[in-house]
Amino acid sequence: MKILMVCLGNICRSPLAEGIMKQKVREAELDWMVDSAGTGHWHAGQLPDRRSIVTAGQHGIDITDQRARQFQVADFERFDKIFVMDTQNRRDVWRLARTEEHRAKVELMLDQIHPGQDRSVPDPYYDDDGFEEVFAMLDRACEAFVARETFPPG
Ligand code: 4NP
Repeated sequence: MKILMVCLGNICRSPLAEGIMKQKVREAELDWMVDSAGTGHWHAGQLPDRRSIVTAGQHGIDITDQRARQFQVADFERFDKIFVMDTQNRRDVWRLARTEEHRAKVELMLDQIHPGQDRSVPDPYYDDDGFEEVFAMLDRACEAFVARETFPPG
């Protein structure tokens, strides 16, 4: 399984999602690959936002090995699953899809815990206090995905 986490800047939400999912993959000893990207290019090459680094660190997750990059069309081929953080990210990524198969790989991260409700992970960039809440949402969503994949119903 190859998973790509996508947000706007690839410095706040998707680096947290990547770090959280990687930790769960390690704990479950799964042979999965996890990466992240942003629909925007502005922060390419940068470390995650300091507030994301601190929040992840408080949960024992080091995300300082990550560097931001922009989503590319080739990612549709490289990854099996593309988790977007919000509905704008979904529009932006869908716009780049060339086939129905590509389009079908895109899913809202929060669909894992609130299916069909089109819920977005709030952008914490302008809200210093939002990071812990974002972490908690992503943790639940990643947990649900891993559980579903490792213990398929029926
Ligand atoms: P992210 O947050 O999409 O979760 O990485 C943002 C980071 C940067 C900006 C917006 C959102 N920005 O406008 O630069």
